[in-house]
Amino acid sequence: MDKLAIAGGKPLRAASEKWQTWPVSDAADAKLVAEITKSNRWSYDGPVEWQFAQDFAKYQTAKFGLCCANGTVGIQIALEALGIGAYDEVIVPGMTWQATAAACVDVNAVPVLCDVEPDTWNLDLAKVEAAITKKTKAVIVVHLYGSVTDIAGLVKLCKKHNLALIEDCAHQHGTFWKGKGVGSFGDVASFSFQESKVLSCGEGGFNTCNTKELFYKLYSLRNCGRAYEADPPVFGLKKPADFSTALQSGNYRITEWQAAILAGGLKRLDKQVKHRDANAIYLNEQLAQLPGVLPMRRRKEVTQQSYFNFAFRIDPKELKVSNRQFCAALNAELSTGDAFEQPYDPLNGCGLYKPRTKTRHNLGKEYWKAIAPEPRKLPVCVDANQNSGVVVHHVMLMNKKKDMDVVAAAVKKLVDSIDAVRQIPDKGGKKYQALSR
Ligand SMILES: Cc1ncc(COP(=O)(O)O)c(C=O)c1O
Repeated sequence: MDKLAIAGGKPLRAASEKWQTWPVSDAADAKLVAEITKSNRWSYDGPVEWQFAQDFAKYQTAKFGLCCANGTVGIQIALEALGIGAYDEVIVPGMTWQATAAACVDVNAVPVLCDVEPDTWNLDLAKVEAAITKKTKAVIVVHLYGSVTDIAGLVKLCKKHNLALIEDCAHQHGTFWKGKGVGSFGDVASFSFQESKVLSCGEGGFNTCNTKELFYKLYSLRNCGRAYEADPPVFGLKKPADFSTALQSGNYRITEWQAAILAGGLKRLDKQVKHRDANAIYLNEQLAQLPGVLPMRRRKEVTQQSYFNFAFRIDPKELKVSNRQFCAALNAELSTGDAFEQPYDPLNGCGLYKPRTKTRHNLGKEYWKAIAPEPRKLPVCVDANQNSGVVVHHVMLMNKKKDMDVVAAAVKKLVDSIDAVRQIPDKGGKKYQALSR
């Protein structure tokens, strides 16, 4: 048996062999950015931004869409457009980037952290239903990493209980469920264009919706409360004659330069998503053959899967190692630094989710108690984060098919030498600790 790279053996892939890097751009992007620099349209509502907004909404099969400052603000204004505010309960998954829950607190709602399915890390609909109370007004679903939530089931559940549905699609530009884009199922959706995302302009966000009333509200909320005023009109919507669609709000707009980078990215997006999806399917087929290695479940309705991260699980009972030990050994074999890592910290123990550290969130005793994340029970999220989950950024899937063979070979090497992996000190990565305050 070859010695593990982490123990001084030869890595399966040398550091001199480069992996793909992210983000990417091309000469046409640079040209458009230069043209904008020379023009007098730098700010919001420019022609490049609106062309992009119409193209991207259409790609995701949503009726309407518009850019905003980032994916966090996108969730915030989605909640505001749906009239969700103080003391309203909003069910959110316990495994997600902190922004999904933080946006709820920022509108003075109460995020109710809900556990996820063990094999997709998406909201568990039975647990969502159990979490519904008289105060529940909405569910925010996160299509996490490379797995889509049972969106048809969730739409039904929300209808049954008269709840609004927000889709947080920060991870899934280019995912389709029976040919219909994610972000077109809920009342409002939010996408992130932050640098790490599969469609990016450094920082940025996007909302989609299917009614013109919500579009008008979202427009006003992202534009200092102004009534919709795109000239020429977009999505066939004329400027309203009065200020009836104007709302109190702040400035959450983007610039023409950001839109230019997005327009270039959108031209490449579908091809890139297909490339990643083909590599993920291929890699999963190989991982499925290894004892103690479990690919994530892909629902049969998914017709195209986009990946923010590629994820899989190890069975710690069978392999008797932690995901921290496994990731350390895998990164050494592949010369990937710390690219393979644990999934998100569960939000009841996440150092970046501290809703009770901001004075403006202190509405009173009852609210302060309700937003405490610590008492929420998230055993599946904790297990994925602490024991079984392994994730890597989507750029890994942008390599060639033969590179997927190297990844699979490295996982196999670890499984074949699992006794040696057990000897690795279990000190890397993040140790989960339920917050107490
Ligand atoms: C699931 C999820 N939701 C929301 C966001 C927030 O997006 P942004 O960073 O653009 O504010 C992110 C960002 O990583 C995310 O991963």
